Amino acid sequence: MCGIVGFAGTRQAAPILLDGLEKLEYRGYDSAGLAIEGDGEILVKKQKGRLRVLREATHNGEDLPGVVGIGHTRWATHGEPSDVNSHPHLSYNGEVCIVHNGIIENYIELRNFLISKGYEFASDTDTEVISQLMDYYYHGDPTEAVEQARSHLMGSYALGILFRQTPDRIYAICKDNPLIIGIGEGENFMASDVTAILKYTRRVFRLSEGELAVLTRDGVTVTDSYGEPIEKEITNVTWDENAAEKGGYEHFMIKEILEQPEVIRKTASPRIVNGTINLSLKSISDEDIRGIDKIYIVACGSAYHVGCVAKPILSKLCRLPVFVELASEFKYSDPMVDNKTLTIVISQSGETLDTYHALKEAASRGSRIISVVNVVGSTIAMVSEDVLFTWAGPEIAVATTKAYSAQLIVMYMLAMYMGRVRGVATEADEKELIRQLEALPDAVEAILEKKEQVQYLASLFYSSKDIFFLGRNIDYALALEGSLKLKEISYIHSEAYAAGELKHGTISLIEQGSLVVALCTYKPLKEKLVSNIKEVVARGAVVIALANEGDTNIEAVADHVIELPEWEELTMPSLAIIPLQLFAYYVASLKGCDIDKPRNLAKSVTVE
Ligand code: AGP
Repeated sequence: MCGIVGFAGTRQAAPILLDGLEKLEYRGYDSAGLAIEGDGEILVKKQKGRLRVLREATHNGEDLPGVVGIGHTRWATHGEPSDVNSHPHLSYNGEVCIVHNGIIENYIELRNFLISKGYEFASDTDTEVISQLMDYYYHGDPTEAVEQARSHLMGSYALGILFRQTPDRIYAICKDNPLIIGIGEGENFMASDVTAILKYTRRVFRLSEGELAVLTRDGVTVTDSYGEPIEKEITNVTWDENAAEKGGYEHFMIKEILEQPEVIRKTASPRIVNGTINLSLKSISDEDIRGIDKIYIVACGSAYHVGCVAKPILSKLCRLPVFVELASEFKYSDPMVDNKTLTIVISQSGETLDTYHALKEAASRGSRIISVVNVVGSTIAMVSEDVLFTWAGPEIAVATTKAYSAQLIVMYMLAMYMGRVRGVATEADEKELIRQLEALPDAVEAILEKKEQVQYLASLFYSSKDIFFLGRNIDYALALEGSLKLKEISYIHSEAYAAGELKHGTISLIEQGSLVVALCTYKPLKEKLVSNIKEVVARGAVVIALANEGDTNIEAVADHVIELPEWEELTMPSLAIIPLQLFAYYVASLKGCDIDKPRNLAKSVTVE
């Protein structure tokens, strides 16, 4: 996810664009840039690093004269963070300049076509392909060039476009990515979201797929896919600036929880090619995968919990021993790692020092390395021989939710891919996983639509002092994450326990009114959970159960039941985690905690 802005007016554009980009840094911040229509040329200034680097380099934009321009703050997806990969991207001859939010899925094909036509490329990005493609179709008519190029783009985009020969205007199009047009007095704006322009105007409309907006200081014209002019309804934004940054939500965490259906879709769909899973591993070959004799997963916190969910799945689909280790322990455990080991390193930030050290330890012993990372260009991503990126976009809340879910998706797909390569998983297994992955976003959406039920339960129990999360097998792995989510943002002590283990000591803590969250989604052991629930109820516990809808056995013994739809075991964790995230969020919200920035925590722990 990146942030784009545009301005066409009578004031100097650069300072206004920088202001707008500052409001969009939460969408991406590994580089930033500006392009300003100058006297017969487009001036481009772009830098790796936070927006302040660009501000300093342009003296807060003062160095860039001109009253029409576009700007970009980047969240790298294709091409590591660097000056040359930063946006805006200018075509080789300086005629066309683009800022882009989104992913062009067929950029390699388009790039090869343009190379065959003599084009050369400076960057590794999909965006530069767009600017060159528009140049290819540009013969003096910008609208023609935009429409021709658009017809070849596959994927998602929100584009701000400058043409050197029309210095008074900005062209804007979008597909599957937001693009807001702002109407001012003698000046007009475009932006990824209203945050960036709220300081200047509250009169906005959203551009739709297939439409083309042309912005000048005198006004904005919009045409439909037939080139016919259309009138867009202008609305008046009432949000305050801070609320808008979170898309109108009170906290980034709830915004990110609600983004999960789209994140699952964005992480899975580009890796499903012609009905099979395609991971595009660069270094580890299928032969290497067939030669592996054990798998280690190393990570911290929630990423470790993803490893716990993935362990039985990998073991079953690959028929290999799988060890999940806390990164901080792994390095000092003299691990049985050699050149037949695959070590999977999971990290949202890609900067967790414990995890980085574990990666280096495994590599020093000859292990092959695949990392699952959300931040392109992060330290762990840069030192891994293969990286599978989660396309969750920047995750701002310290408590991870959407990145956790994206990591699950990548692990399901990696396990299936390896299982197929090793001849253990069948083509039917793969097709069934793909079916589930394609259905998951809607299933998650349906659970999110019932979030008020979880909010009600949170209202009953937010003053609890201790909360126990119980589960068996994959439900135990989920209990670990549910417990961590709750304690890290609500500061309530909670423990996750293997339900079968409780009676070996910890059950002594259960007393009248103890709250127990029992996860009962893993069908083969569901009856065992019925017994475990009876054990704690007999000692005074109050039980919230997560169960498949219509499970009367669980309903008969639990005090409250959060129903989950009938779903296949393999990807059920992606559904079961949602109520646990919501429960933690609503409990913390009712307690008035600082949800996005909990005490003592950091989004990325770069110390041992
Ligand atoms: C999870 O909500 C926490 N923020 C924390 O446990 C986190 O998962 C852990 O620090 C690992 O971070 P990473 O994924 O960026 O490596």
